[in-house]
Amino acid sequence: MKGIVLAGGSGTRLYPTSLAVSKQLIPVYDKPTIYYPLSTLMLAGIRDILIISTPADLPQFKRLFGDGSALGLTLDYAEQPEPNGLAEAFIIGADHIGDDQVALVLGDNIFHGQGFSGLLQETARSIDGCVLFGYPVHDPERYGVGEVGADGRLISIEEKPARPRSDRAITGLYFYDNDVIDIAKNLRPSARGELEITDVNLRYLAEGRARLVELGRGFTWLDTGTPESLLTASQFVHVMESRQQVRIACLEEVALRMGFIDAQACRRLGERLGKSGYGRYVVEVAEAAS
Ligand code: G1P
Repeated sequence: MKGIVLAGGSGTRLYPTSLAVSKQLIPVYDKPTIYYPLSTLMLAGIRDILIISTPADLPQFKRLFGDGSALGLTLDYAEQPEPNGLAEAFIIGADHIGDDQVALVLGDNIFHGQGFSGLLQETARSIDGCVLFGYPVHDPERYGVGEVGADGRLISIEEKPARPRSDRAITGLYFYDNDVIDIAKNLRPSARGELEITDVNLRYLAEGRARLVELGRGFTWLDTGTPESLLTASQFVHVMESRQQVRIACLEEVALRMGFIDAQACRRLGERLGKSGYGRYVVEVAEAAS
């Protein structure tokens, strides 16, 4: 399975913070926002990943991650020159996806929960159509919203409905079979001129091939689109990391635990980060594993 992180957009709701810096490079507590969604793909066992961003921001992501080999990944980069919608990722990324399945994660989505890696890997093994991940929220009108019937099947999906039919937000993590490329290429732009991810999902729903996996109790999903949600996310990560003595979305640790790199390589990555608390943590993790 291939991965795509979509880190485009202008982040207008975070202006002026995101005027000169990509919103996905703004820190959530101790690391850039993009670390969180990238760790999600890695936890699914995905190593071949395309990062899509604007022409202005792409060089910064390249500076941050290079070719990804230090983390045992193969990273590629592609431009989305205009904010033409999330579903354009499958057109821009068509060559990267090839004839494989693909997981798309939005660059500002944070997922955290026990057993997440196992859930992702199990889900990735059995994709027929698309798999969406649902999370109950108190403000569903801000998101794509899924409605589930009595038998647990998905019966409707709406993008930012004024009157949501349920409290199930469709989170920014999507698994698709290879048909997604053709579906995206045949989409018409919505009223706001974008290729909507929700329209892709509706195509699968119409064919009875859209499944919703519930991220239930004990799970946390956060986005960072506004100053408030960015602060909430930073506070969450800070509290969790300081009380539990483990770091969330530490890419070097994830790469080590997933077997993408060995302890020696992990240690070198930690040392390169010098005296930061994050760097010291990476060295500790490497020492504990060797
Ligand atoms: C996008 C999707 C929406 C989804 C959300 C998750 O909205 O269109 O369906 O629920 O991401 O973060 P956006 O944040 O781009 O407005």
